[in-house]
Amino acid sequence: MNFSKERKYFPILEEKVQLSSCSQSALSIQVQQSLDEFMQTWISEGMDWNKWMVCVEETKALFAKMINASPEEIAILSSVSDAASTVASALNFDGQRNKIVTTELDFPSIGHVWLAQKKRGAKVDFIPAVDNKIALESYDGYVDHHTLVTSISHVSYYNGFKQDLKSIASKVHSKGSYLFVDAYQSAGSVEIDVKEMDIDFLSTGSQKFMLGTPGIAFLYVKSEIAEQLEPSTTGWFGRVSPFAFDIKQLDYAEGAKRFNTGTPPMINAYAARGGLTLLNEIGVDRIEKYLSSLSSFAINYAKEKDFKLASPEDLNDKASNTAIFIPNAAKMEQQLRQDNVIVSARNDVIRIAPHFYNTEEDIATAIDKMAYLLAKA
Ligand SMILES: Cc1ncc(COP(=O)(O)O)c(C=O)c1O
Repeated sequence: MNFSKERKYFPILEEKVQLSSCSQSALSIQVQQSLDEFMQTWISEGMDWNKWMVCVEETKALFAKMINASPEEIAILSSVSDAASTVASALNFDGQRNKIVTTELDFPSIGHVWLAQKKRGAKVDFIPAVDNKIALESYDGYVDHHTLVTSISHVSYYNGFKQDLKSIASKVHSKGSYLFVDAYQSAGSVEIDVKEMDIDFLSTGSQKFMLGTPGIAFLYVKSEIAEQLEPSTTGWFGRVSPFAFDIKQLDYAEGAKRFNTGTPPMINAYAARGGLTLLNEIGVDRIEKYLSSLSSFAINYAKEKDFKLASPEDLNDKASNTAIFIPNAAKMEQQLRQDNVIVSARNDVIRIAPHFYNTEEDIATAIDKMAYLLAKA
């Protein structure tokens, strides 16, 4: 399987090797055209809220389709951190069930949101990472009948470690805890079925494997749960009738809509619509299989060149990102960029994060250049 036809949708690939989907994917002509459509209406109409809102709704439906949800189960926010804050604001930490369990491999911003709930009575526990992984069994020791929410990354931003959502959902539900999933490093590259996996909350944004821009995030809330919650981080788009402009009426809209806050990020919805259309056309199942074969190549090629990996080597535990230990990773990122190779550094690793438009050759180019630069230093 290869995506040589689709590779042509990404003009930058004629000039550069872009392997940074864990941070920012390459720009496709589809996303650019969709953004142009927004700009054209702004230029020629001055303002077209109705049309822009139609795009927001279409984007929501495309995202819902990708994760097997219904559009009524999706709220639109501006970042995954905002989505987590909105969920946190709807939870009550006053009672006996006041514990939040998260992991050391989660993205710091989400940990910060949960730590901020300590002022509201929450206790926060971090499951430690061992060998840069979180063992499935470790949830048994941390999640108990005092746990209100367990918050995990589907795939870790640091090293691409992938967790088994269905098994974790079953474990945390048996203790009465909600499951919040940060899918920013998986959505668009790993199949997600919120129904089959029995997820309560799931959030992701458009910038990484969903091929769009920062500034828009999606929050799935299971419909049975949404109706029981009233987020205090809120705004007019969370109301039953935003355009009633009734300042004295705090009613909560049906379903996940109640988790909306202010005006949706319309321009970013245009970009997200372009990316999601492409992903749904290609099929995330095919993308996931292809990325697994690229993972296998990246692991073997990096080891041949004597690099040490921070990523798991078992393909079942890993998504696209292959993280390689590099002494001064930030400097290496800059050096590679000067040589037309775009990767992303985090702490002590360079993350090589291909999407479907990348090839084994792209990965070999990046690793060869890293080996050359280190030997020269
Ligand atoms: C897994 C994960 N979650 C959350 C974030 C932060 O998302 P946002 O800036 O939209 O809050 C990132 C950003 O890199 C991430 O990788």
